[in-house]
Amino acid sequence: MLENAVLVTGTGRRIGFHIAKRLFDDGYTVIAHYRSYTDDIRILADMGITTIQADLVDSNKILQFVAELQTCCVNFRAIIHNASSFEPTAENLIDAAEQFDQFFNVHMKAPFLINQGLQSLLVGEADAPADIIHITDINAENPTPRFDIYGSTKAGLHNLTVVLAKKFAPKIKVNSIAPGPVLFTEQHSEQVRQQMLDETLLAKEGGAEPVYLAIKSVLTNPFITGASIPVDGGRRLSKR
Ligand SMILES: NC(=O)c1ccc[n+]([C@@H]2O[C@H](COP(=O)([O-])OP(=O)(O)OC[C@H]3O[C@@H](n4cnc5c(N)ncnc54)[C@H](OP(=O)(O)O)[C@@H]3O)[C@@H](O)[C@H]2O)c1
Repeated sequence: MLENAVLVTGTGRRIGFHIAKRLFDDGYTVIAHYRSYTDDIRILADMGITTIQADLVDSNKILQFVAELQTCCVNFRAIIHNASSFEPTAENLIDAAEQFDQFFNVHMKAPFLINQGLQSLLVGEADAPADIIHITDINAENPTPRFDIYGSTKAGLHNLTVVLAKKFAPKIKVNSIAPGPVLFTEQHSEQVRQQMLDETLLAKEGGAEPVYLAIKSVLTNPFITGASIPVDGGRRLSKR
């Protein structure tokens, strides 16, 4: 049984992988969740990190995942909800309906059920509260119309931050970290990338490390809850 575990969801690539690896390097006991088995998951497992597979796509699978977590850990220091679906809203209504269920489940239902199911096992260090961190997006505040389902379900995730901060206080802090242009995806054309950089005050793609640094600052600060911390190089101020 693991003690003081930090659960990170969606660690099979990119930012989630980076968060899990950096937490481990900094001495935390990490549980790395993934959906698809990847080379990055193999790297985390080879480092000695516990990895658990779950598709956070429907209630039954999410509840099975919660039950597995309840049996593998004595307690948790933190939960970091990073898993996410990102794509523009489909033109076809039937596809959009499917996307809505998928985005809602990954961005809102899974975090809610995992938080609710594990809250009695969340324990902080010394007299400081434990942590729940939701990785949202600056789109939650200033959404892009083409990504309306993505943005609105991320906004729902931030609303969960606020209500769960109230519900779980004073034992657990609940905060959002809202990235902007941190890592471009293959879907971003050169033109879109340039537009995003032009709209970013600090004029660069931030990389995964600034997201980790924000997580670390939340974990080590005992007096922040119900907050959203942008990690966006200032793009939220100038995004069209
Ligand atoms: N990249 C950016 O610049 C940026 C900007 C703003 C916000 N963010 C936020 O930062 C976080 C990480 O971003 P990223 O770019 O690293 O994301 P990403 O490359 O899209 O990776 C998302 C992860 O979530 C997992 N996932 C998706 N659907 C799932 C499901 N149904 N069940 C379980 N896991 C699922 C994926 O697993 P599979 O490998 O199986 O698909 C993948 O490992 C996300 O929350 C994202 O919204 C990122």
